[in-house]
Amino acid sequence: MSLVSEILISIWVILPAYLPNSAAAVFGGGKAIDSGSKLNGKRILGDGKTWKGTLAGASAGFGLALIMNQINMILGLEIPSFTLIAAASLGLGAMLGDISASFLKRRLGKDRGRPFPVLDQVDFLIGAILLVYLLDYLWAAQNLDLTTLGILGLLTPLVHVTANIIGYKADIKDEPW
Ligand code: CTP
Ligand code: MG
Repeated sequence: MSLVSEILISIWVILPAYLPNSAAAVFGGGKAIDSGSKLNGKRILGDGKTWKGTLAGASAGFGLALIMNQINMILGLEIPSFTLIAAASLGLGAMLGDISASFLKRRLGKDRGRPFPVLDQVDFLIGAILLVYLLDYLWAAQNLDLTTLGILGLLTPLVHVTANIIGYKADIKDEPW
């Protein structure tokens, strides 16, 4: 396979893990998962992790994977499709990764919403990859092999830096990082 197709397919298989964060931000709110409970004086997760956001995020990832399967089938593309378990794991895993990162941030004394560079950019990816390996090893080993993981590892920081610079130039963000 050519390098370009390797890169495009790597992006394709991980897309369902990228959508959940935005869906959670749009549809989130309401009851916090930790319902305000604290651990050693600090919130367990914080108000940024809600049931509604988590459900919306996980469903969005799952739904996107199913839509991608349809597109794949209709266009007759010879690219990977998602098993139901892989689709569900990518969406839910992304949310669990993000929730785990909030748990860690609260333990380190970072208040809700404060940026935590690098962790904020990879938590959902790590969660999605771990859960899909755990629940659908065959799919994961086939579609998220070392080459693909390497490509995604290199691409992720690049995507974030570029998106932030565009956001800054477009006056959406106050800082270019
Ligand atoms: N969100 C949610 N439930 C989740 C994840 C996100 O409701 N499981 C919503 C919340 O409204 C949150 C927003 O999406 O404020 C942005 O998500 P994120 O940046 O992950 O949360 P933060 O508010 O920054 O909190 P934290 O510091 O814990 O990451
Ligand atoms: Mg945040």
